Amino acid sequence: MATAARRLVPFHLRPPGARPLAAVAAAPHSRKRDAVSCKSTGKTRAKNKAKDTTMWRPQRRELEEHLKRRTRSAGAFDPGLYRRHSHSHHVPVLLGEVLAAFRRPLPLRSFVDCTLGAAGHSLAMMEAHPEMELHVGMDVDPSALEIGQRHIEAFLVSRATGEGGEDALQGTLRAYTHVKNFKYIKHVLGGVDESLADGSSGVDGILIDLGMSSMQVNRSDRGFSVLNDGPLDMRMDPKATLTAEDILNSWPELEVGRILRDYGEESNWQSLQRRIVKERKTGGLHSTGELVKLIQRTCTISGGRQGWIKTATRVFQALRIAVNDELQTLEDALHSCFDCLAPDGRLAVISFHSLEDRIVKQTFLELIRGDEAEDDEEDLVCADIDDEDEPWFKQRVQGTNGTVLTKRPTTPSQEEEKLNQRCRSAKLRVIQKA
Ligand SMILES: C[S@@+](CC[C@H](N)C(=O)[O-])C[C@H]1O[C@@H](n2cnc3c(N)ncnc32)[C@H](O)[C@@H]1O
Repeated sequence: MATAARRLVPFHLRPPGARPLAAVAAAPHSRKRDAVSCKSTGKTRAKNKAKDTTMWRPQRRELEEHLKRRTRSAGAFDPGLYRRHSHSHHVPVLLGEVLAAFRRPLPLRSFVDCTLGAAGHSLAMMEAHPEMELHVGMDVDPSALEIGQRHIEAFLVSRATGEGGEDALQGTLRAYTHVKNFKYIKHVLGGVDESLADGSSGVDGILIDLGMSSMQVNRSDRGFSVLNDGPLDMRMDPKATLTAEDILNSWPELEVGRILRDYGEESNWQSLQRRIVKERKTGGLHSTGELVKLIQRTCTISGGRQGWIKTATRVFQALRIAVNDELQTLEDALHSCFDCLAPDGRLAVISFHSLEDRIVKQTFLELIRGDEAEDDEEDLVCADIDDEDEPWFKQRVQGTNGTVLTKRPTTPSQEEEKLNQRCRSAKLRVIQKA
């Protein structure tokens, strides 16, 4: 698909009748997609049943666990690795699984972490790949990048002084950090070395770990937290102009409702939409606390079906996606990242909600299929992976341009979930370029 066709027109500028992005993402599978992904009407039925709120809670939990078991990481959880790379700023999720995803290609000479954060994944990768020659860390949030940068610098110093052990002395690593949205990966890599961005050499590994770091959620002045009062900001990039306050107080009523429905998947979106817009008559909403109170009042009136916290979480998710244009950014970035990979190079993506995961799943299939094969329904081949070296990849989907190594996503082990509640919804998908 051409880049121009994927570019998002902001909601309020879209032509009448344009489908919202999430609706596009949620559109029924084409026959082509069904061929590779949806033999499973039984699975879909079970999934819907698991969402059925009238079900008795223990029964629902059991069903949810049954569904999760199919995707739970098959790797042994390594508590030492987990502890070594977890700290107050952030606990990296699916760490062992990310390391496993990049066990090939070997040697892994170049690696890009598109969402550096506190550099938990990056440091584990540097430790696991002493042969790495180039590391590029990007983050759109300068305060997050600063922390990640400090951790990398400390790691490189300890490595240079030999504190990291014998392995750590191998190789010379050039490490760069950039405050940049990951959709500009080509531009960033072009600045480091032109051959990396123009496809003539490319990088061996790229990671995107979506969502927020603990340091962002815990800072009330960013406006991401449902539980701490703060400004209605929610910008990942502090230089961006649109805030959650702008959306709530000035976007057309229908657009407000639409993001709550499509980006928050909130069933109560109509009442919320009406109340948010009504609030404008008395000066509007100006803090996350005010928004939460409005949600609490709405939930009480509607019987508080699933509790106000769940509704608030969905409303905050919707606003965050809209403020940061997260879904279109992700789709664009996946195309750019794939272009930047070297042959056999891998791209791993960790997503945290179904809208993101659907985009990753569908874009990966588009990427391996390639433009020229658009009309060929038989161009993708599903097969079991029986590779002794990489037992964690069970089923792949093969296309002309590459391979999706995770036909089903990998989700955290029960051990990891017990230690880090925030990882519960994480899903890892991996693609390899031909
Ligand atoms: C879950 S954290 C990453 C944590 C990191 N993997 C670690 O182990 O410490 C996600 C990071 O992605 C950043 N981020 C979100 N959207 C971004 C984008 N479009 N471009 C670049 N960085 C982004 C956030 O600022 C945040 O620091």
